[in-house]
Amino acid sequence: KKVVLAYSGGVDTSVCIPYLKHEWGVEEVITLAADLGQGDELEAVKEKALKSGASESLVVDVKDTFIKDYAFSAIQANALYENRYPLATALARPLIAKALVETAQKYGADAIAHGCTGKGNDQVRFDVACAALNPNLKILAPAREWGMSREETIAYGERFGIPAPVKKSSPYSIDKNLLGRSIEAGVLEDPTFEPPEEIYEMTKAIADTPNEPEYIEIGFTKGIPTNLNGEHKNPIELIEQLNHLAGNHGVGRIDMIENRLVGIKSREIYESPAMVVLIQAHRDLESLTLTADVTHYKRGIEETYSQLIYNGLWYSPLKAALDAFIQKTQERVSGTVRVKLLKGNATIVGRRSENSLYTPDLATYGAEDQFDHKAAEGFIYIWGLPTRIWAQQTRG
Ligand code: ARG
Ligand code: SIN
Repeated sequence: KKVVLAYSGGVDTSVCIPYLKHEWGVEEVITLAADLGQGDELEAVKEKALKSGASESLVVDVKDTFIKDYAFSAIQANALYENRYPLATALARPLIAKALVETAQKYGADAIAHGCTGKGNDQVRFDVACAALNPNLKILAPAREWGMSREETIAYGERFGIPAPVKKSSPYSIDKNLLGRSIEAGVLEDPTFEPPEEIYEMTKAIADTPNEPEYIEIGFTKGIPTNLNGEHKNPIELIEQLNHLAGNHGVGRIDMIENRLVGIKSREIYESPAMVVLIQAHRDLESLTLTADVTHYKRGIEETYSQLIYNGLWYSPLKAALDAFIQKTQERVSGTVRVKLLKGNATIVGRRSENSLYTPDLATYGAEDQFDHKAAEGFIYIWGLPTRIWAQQTRG
């Protein structure tokens, strides 16, 4: 049997290699590490897989696809799980699953494998995405079944030459990529405990941010961010630079109790500077360029879309159908949004668009006013008629 394993270089995924071979009789383990801009030394990760017993160790750079096909769709959908989490981790999973399935097909593997535990969302995302892309592939999740504690896992690995973590490993569980970092466990499990500064990497503490505001301009083309401060940027550049600019002002920290798909609540800390700013700016540009009914209707679609990303349904008929709606709405969402960064806040302070539906002649309170005030009277009479009738009936 041949298996393609999603590999990060950490102890758990490393232990999966000998475990699959010795406990589950897998003959060949091919590891796949996806470069999502997490900043790990991927050459070392590649070596580590081979030392841990992998027959082949692959590294694939999927950063460009990640931003273009995953992050940008999420921005167009203003996707925030439970109104706050910009889904950095959740968006990466279907892309990793796609790379696993493609690799399994190319190498003629029978199964794919991952090192997720049995109580998280990530296992669901991997399993469902892989099933959607190739229902004939088996999915193996050793860490879901082995029942080893952290210490036992390390001891098991040492038997097969997998070194215990050198420095006392981080007490947190951290997932990171270009779109942000997700931090949980350790002292954070106490929801009353303020997150310590040490957990943050992409955002400065408010005490250390500049006292002067910084103004930036983000240009969108059909709902996709394409410009930063008047310059065209490729997708990766734009995200990296915006992470840096916004993070420098402490923008993008989120501390929340969230509802996992597996039924439990968990305390999660996120930092996601670029995504937080982009979704805010994008939504603002929509308010200028979309009609009221489309804007309002889209809010419900966005809620559903955020949930399906979180819940592992990226490759689903519902997602495809909602994408068609969202793409249609984005045809006019082009223009520029001006954002003020200061002390942890990104505030939208201006917006302009060739497709603006804002009509100064109708909006003004000045002498140029073109709005027909008299027409309001009849409108209000008919608009309020059901309420008037109801009041007459019930209030006598
Ligand atoms: N709760 C977030 C999610 O479900 C983040 C999970 C982070 N994973 C991790 N290994 N720390 O998307
Ligand atoms: C995990 O258990 O793999 C991490 C947490 C999550 O998936 O939500």
